[in-house]
Amino acid sequence: MDNGVVDPAHLADSAGVVDLRSDTLTRPTPGMRAAMAAAEVGDDVYLEDPTVNALEGEVAALFGHEAALFVPTGTMGNQICLRLLAGPGEEILADADAHIVTYEHGAAAALFGIQTRTVVSKRGLFDTDQLLAQVREGDWHTMGTNAVAVENTHNRGGGTIQPLIEIARLSDELRDRGVALHIDGARIWNAAVASGTPLSAYGELADTMSVCLSKGLGAPIGSVILASAERIAAARILRKRLGGGMRQVGVLAAAGRYALAHHIDRLADDHRRARALADRVGVAEEEVQTNIVRLDSVDAAGLAKAAAEQGILISQVAADRVRLLTHLDIDDAGAERAGDVLAELLNR
Ligand SMILES: Cc1ncc(COP(=O)(O)O)c(C=O)c1O
Repeated sequence: MDNGVVDPAHLADSAGVVDLRSDTLTRPTPGMRAAMAAAEVGDDVYLEDPTVNALEGEVAALFGHEAALFVPTGTMGNQICLRLLAGPGEEILADADAHIVTYEHGAAAALFGIQTRTVVSKRGLFDTDQLLAQVREGDWHTMGTNAVAVENTHNRGGGTIQPLIEIARLSDELRDRGVALHIDGARIWNAAVASGTPLSAYGELADTMSVCLSKGLGAPIGSVILASAERIAAARILRKRLGGGMRQVGVLAAAGRYALAHHIDRLADDHRRARALADRVGVAEEEVQTNIVRLDSVDAAGLAKAAAEQGILISQVAADRVRLLTHLDIDDAGAERAGDVLAELLNR
């Protein structure tokens, strides 16, 4: 099981259920559990957990950043990054459907007094000119923009990949204006695998990044933030202030290290299954770039309920939209069965 392939026995307790609600639902594989059990640990608040230190070093190197910090969640990762780039009474520009705006309960405002201004996009794909037109230079009268946050891939957009060339153009323009760029890279691994882009190419364009180990990579917990050494030193204090200073957390970092070694390339299988599923339920293949299939113009509640009755679990993300995610615990047979059930319910 060390190659990251899931033993079907692993799914035995939920036999028959195909859970496509999220890629956060994966359970650690036997190989990952073994790595966790064997992890060397120490007190990470004292900087003495060798497995955490190794994970941070590895992720920093992958993205070409000076330093990295292990945090419990992607939400904490994003919020620490936003605070690194803006303070009370300052502004971040973000997509209107971004995770930081939709699912983080106003944390930037509630915790740090940061104002978030939003721009509406199509399927989460940012339009560089539109974003740049909204970046304001501040003065005694006008609120200036400190940073822009970009989500790659875009969750609610349907796993949309932001093209590298556009991130590069945005990053260049922002640097010229002294405005920072944050990338919420919860699923940056999916973007990299699907587009053949090296992780370092994304890393070099962002001032701060938050990348999740607990989504497609299949770790039970954990995200890593990336930035300059100076910013990561400040991030360590912010993490402590938020109650995120952790102790013998190498057992969790070991899951992340295992995921980096075994679960990145296999994301291509999730993408292939998502495209096959999309095809079966009548969604155009080109609308599926990674592991998320978005079904629009449906009775979301009715469809989710009828599918659940047949053991297929899907997420309602709006009254007329559902979302299906492929992941480590979904094999070909599961994806096919889900496709058959959903196609029948949708008369497709
Ligand atoms: C794009 C994106 N960013 C951040 C997060 C937050 O991650 P966590 O659930 O670990 O806080 C998620 C979670 O699904 C996400 O989809």
